[in-house]
Amino acid sequence: MDTTVKDMLESEEGTEAADGPAWKKASGMHYIKFLRSVHEKLLFDLYFEIGTCNGHSLYPSRSRTVAVDPYFRVKDNAIGVKPELHVFQCGSDEFFERDFLKRNDMKISFGFLDGMHLFEYLLRDFINAERNCREGAVLALHDCCPYNFTIQTRDLNHLPRDAWTGDVWKLLPVLRKYRPDLTLTVLACAPTGLVLVTGLDPENDKLSRHYDEILSDWVDVEMRDYGVDRFNESFEFHLPRKVIGDGFSLFAGAAMENAVPLAPVKVST
Ligand SMILES: C[S@@+](CC[C@H](N)C(=O)[O-])C[C@H]1O[C@@H](n2cnc3c(N)ncnc32)[C@H](O)[C@@H]1O
Repeated sequence: MDTTVKDMLESEEGTEAADGPAWKKASGMHYIKFLRSVHEKLLFDLYFEIGTCNGHSLYPSRSRTVAVDPYFRVKDNAIGVKPELHVFQCGSDEFFERDFLKRNDMKISFGFLDGMHLFEYLLRDFINAERNCREGAVLALHDCCPYNFTIQTRDLNHLPRDAWTGDVWKLLPVLRKYRPDLTLTVLACAPTGLVLVTGLDPENDKLSRHYDEILSDWVDVEMRDYGVDRFNESFEFHLPRKVIGDGFSLFAGAAMENAVPLAPVKVST
């Protein structure tokens, strides 16, 4: 593990706001530490992730896994004790067009959506992932709680050097408006939050039916106009430690009961 990640994991503090108004900052446990706790405790029939990069969110999974990223930078052994690891080096839209999950009768139990941080991409990733979820599944949306204006840029040619949330924060008001049936639990995972979505319904097509309308209403909206206070007031932060402390009850319908992790045995030298 590189030093930067080690430092982040050991910190309980979020990043300080760099500009302007009073941002509601995610200053709890680092999201990778939280994901590690989830995978240390629970086994899933299928863990699915969009956006793998160096593999920090992929390594901890001990479950059958599907990972999608157009440019993998994984260096260490990413399979670990996973019984299966399916890796797709392509964009998430292309992955879903191939319909790999349905063709192989695979349903997502726990999904981590951390690919392209532009609003319309995360909206499509959410729509497509939900269609492929099993009953009781959990989808985790990363980076929906920005802590300054700079990290929200949509300009792919001038991305900030460190954290970049893009404008995926818009998923929160959009899901609230179009999918009040969903439960959104916004965890204060540093540095930019982790939204756990439960109550998923693979048959619900409201978002896809309204996709064009949602895009035209939201894609050009800026947080400066929407209002930081309005955004802050739209959700409560939940402490990741509490989710861990109550035995991951949010994941009760997603995890496999009485499952044991694979213990691969070396069969020859
Ligand atoms: C923030 S990184 C993922 C970090 C990783 N999940 C972690 O926690 O360590 C975002 C990744 O999304 C990938 N990405 C960009 N566009 C994508 C797309 N259209 N579909 C899937 N992944 C995409 C990038 O290549 C990058 O590796």
